[in-house]
Amino acid sequence: MDEKDIPRNLREEEEEEEENLSEETKSSISSLPWEIDYLGNKLFKYQGYWYYEDILQAIPNFHKSFQPQETDIIVAAFPKSGTTWLKALTFALIQRSKHPLEEDNHPLLSHNPHEIVPYLELDLYLKSSKPDLTKFLSSSLSPRLFSTHMSLDALKAPLKESSCKIVYVCRNVKDVLVSLWHFLNANKGVEWGDFSQSEKISGVDDHSFEAMFESFCNGVTLYGPFEDHALSYWQGSLEDPKHVLFMMYEEFKAEPRTQVKRLAEFLDCPFTKEEEDSGSVDKILELCSLSNLSSLEINKTGTLDGVDFKTYFRKGQVGDWKSYMTPEMVNKIDMIIEEKLKGSGLKF
Ligand code: A3P
Repeated sequence: MDEKDIPRNLREEEEEEEENLSEETKSSISSLPWEIDYLGNKLFKYQGYWYYEDILQAIPNFHKSFQPQETDIIVAAFPKSGTTWLKALTFALIQRSKHPLEEDNHPLLSHNPHEIVPYLELDLYLKSSKPDLTKFLSSSLSPRLFSTHMSLDALKAPLKESSCKIVYVCRNVKDVLVSLWHFLNANKGVEWGDFSQSEKISGVDDHSFEAMFESFCNGVTLYGPFEDHALSYWQGSLEDPKHVLFMMYEEFKAEPRTQVKRLAEFLDCPFTKEEEDSGSVDKILELCSLSNLSSLEINKTGTLDGVDFKTYFRKGQVGDWKSYMTPEMVNKIDMIIEEKLKGSGLKF
C-alpha cells in the first residue's frame, strides 16, 4: 500500500502544531455557555452541541476551508456508535478493486481504521486551519474518505452544493452510554482536548456510571445531546436520501449481508453478480468483523494520540446496557428519548 493511502501517518510529518486560534475565536469561545462534564472538563455549547475548546476551533476552520469534491464520502457517528466498524467497512468496500479482500497485505490488516480514515474535526482541522488535503486520492474509483463525530447541523455548511455522500451509523442510546463509560475508563490517562483556556476542574471527576448517566441525560457530553445528533442525520436522510444514509448498528449486527449491500449501493459501488457468487460480501464482513480486527497485532498493541487501539474493540453486544442500568435509569432515559423523538419516525 502507498504511504499516501494513510493520511494519518503522513500528517505526522506536519508535527509542528499550528497556532490557529485567533483572538476573536478565543473571546467568542469564552462567551459561550459552558458546563463541566463527568471527567471534570469544560464543555462549551456551540450552535446547540457540546464541545471541548480545541474542537471548537476546528469546526470554524473546517467551515471556512473545506472544499468538498463530488466524490467525497464522509462516515459519521456519535462516539461509540460503531464508528470504527463503519470506517473499516466503507474503506474495504470502496477500495476493493485496488485492495482485493483476500490480499495478505490489505491495509486493514496492518492499520487501525482510525489511521486510515481521518476525522475532519479531530484530526485534520484540529491540527491546522488549512490542512493539506492534496495528499488524499480522489477519483470515482478512489474517492476521498473522511469521518466525523459532528452532527449534520455542524457538518453540512461547507457541503451545501456538493454531491458528496454521508453515511451515519446510529446505535441504541443505552448501549452507546455503556460503551462510552467503558471507553473513558479504559483511557483515564488521556487528555480529551486542549485545556489551555479552560483548565480541568479538579475534584469533580467522578468516573462512576451514575455520574456519566446524569451528564448524558442532561445532554452534557461531548458532541451531545445524543438525540439531537441522531435526529439531525435522520432528518437529513429523509430530506436527501441520495446523499445521506442513516444506518443502525443493531441492523448491521442482525442482518450484516443486507446492510453491507445497502451501503455498497448507496456508495454507488454495488456488488456484481460475480462478486456475490465468489463470496465478496462475506469476505468484507469477515475482514471487518470485531473478532478479526481485534485479533490483529496492530489493534492489540497500536496506539494513537494516547489511545490504545484495543480500547476501540470491546464486546459489540446489543443490549449490554441491561447489565448496567437500574429500572429507574431505564425509565428515565427511555422517557427522554421518547419525548425528543416524538413525531420524527425515528425509533430505537
Ligand atoms: P462496545 O463497547 O459496546 O463493545 P466506536 O467505534 O464508535 O468507538 O464504537 C465502539 C463500539 O463498537 C464498541 O462497542 C466496540 O466493541 C464496537 N465495535 C468496534 N469494532 C467493531 C466491529 N468491527 N464490529 C462490531 N462492533 C464493533
